[in-house]
Amino acid sequence: PETVRRDAEGRLTVAGVDVVSLAREYGTAAYVLDEQDFRSRARAFRDGFADAFAQVCGGADVYYAGKAFLCTSVARWVAEEGLSLDVCSGGELAVARRAGFPPERIGFHGNNKSVEEIRAALEYGVGRIVLDSFTEIERVADVATSLGVVAPVMIRVTVGVEAHTHEFIATGHEDQKFGFSLSEGQALEAARTVLAHDRLDLRGLHSHIGSQIFDTGGFELSARRLVGLHRQVATELGHHSPEIDLGGGFGMAYTSQHTPLPPEHLAAQLADIVRHEFAALGDEALTRVPRVSVEPGRAIVGPSTFTLYEVGTVKEVQLGDLHSRAYVSVDGGMSDNVRPALYEADYSCTLASRSSDAAPMLARVVGKHCESGDIVVQDEWLPADTRPGDLIAVPGTGAYCRALSSQYNHTPRPPVLAVRDGAARVLVRRETIDDLLALDVGSS
Ligand code: LLP
Repeated sequence: PETVRRDAEGRLTVAGVDVVSLAREYGTAAYVLDEQDFRSRARAFRDGFADAFAQVCGGADVYYAGKAFLCTSVARWVAEEGLSLDVCSGGELAVARRAGFPPERIGFHGNNKSVEEIRAALEYGVGRIVLDSFTEIERVADVATSLGVVAPVMIRVTVGVEAHTHEFIATGHEDQKFGFSLSEGQALEAARTVLAHDRLDLRGLHSHIGSQIFDTGGFELSARRLVGLHRQVATELGHHSPEIDLGGGFGMAYTSQHTPLPPEHLAAQLADIVRHEFAALGDEALTRVPRVSVEPGRAIVGPSTFTLYEVGTVKEVQLGDLHSRAYVSVDGGMSDNVRPALYEADYSCTLASRSSDAAPMLARVVGKHCESGDIVVQDEWLPADTRPGDLIAVPGTGAYCRALSSQYNHTPRPPVLAVRDGAARVLVRRETIDDLLALDVGSS
């Protein structure tokens, strides 16, 4: 977060709160989330997209992707900042409901929503359900019929775009599980099927090409293909979809190697792309551009948070004659951030509890779990006097860290703390061993 500073004693502070006090009061490991940082990023996306698309289609809606990180406080902030919310499970929907999130501003995703989840979404009155398969078209229509409502739906389209990101988080290419394929005409067929149901209201077309993307070329291609489908739906099926969603996936900086576009520039580029693709249709009847929406998760919440760990051990490993590496073990690891193990994700870290004039040493920060792949930061220069009891901060852990966390090795999950105006509070409390044992109902 931008409010990170060093105080006179060399301790890291965030939003006016120093990390040593945080560790003393709440323990480590802990996720520390700067509330104003989150809110200002959310606002930057909301305003950037509203402004850039004002002339193109009267504005754009930003759906915060709750899968990156969601709790009731964050859902309330999202609502207060005027964004919409993308949920992709009954659990995320339950968080939104508990936060009282306005239902008409919720979009519901997923490639295998259960009947119960669909019913919960329709009963709450979500603004759109994104359909992912023919099976699901019928399932949503059946639930809508049984409830006596009309379900607002979008069609998720596989646009056949190869986004240049890690294979596990790319979703636009053909051979994967999401959406209706464009190449085999499935997407048009899906639109035809939806339009034939009087319990389904086709709100628009959706695509999401992947995550941690920096090059807008992928969005250009997906917008072109979505617009092409929009035209087909209009000319062949006589339906003008009121919305187009370009999905999320906007990259953030984990290390200095990444330079993401500021939200307003990103929005301006996407607005140009959409304007251009519609203009290229050269079709008078289609000059009315549908309302555009996007679904950023990582780019909003990722930079707002760092994880605070305490160093437990430091071990020197010789790498040939000239080099050595220090293995710095902390009190967390792949259970609170599985991304290095899962995606070879790069992070950085800094000594947070004091400053040091010691020479830099090559360090690998590792967790406490029983796997050698349990890496927190692959390579970092830390002061050579880094020692047990020091605090280490790993920035950029707001997205897909707590969300993907586990209790591996029966490790209770860290709390999520919010800092703001010199004060800290708990958003999600630390799990306890009792929480873990409470699930284990076996006897004798
Ligand atoms: N919309 C849809 C339909 C999505 O599937 C996703 C992410 C998003 C929006 C938000 O994407 P974002 O703006 O946060 O990149 N666990 C992986 C990322 C998986 C992304 C899944 N879908 C990771 O840690 O990198």
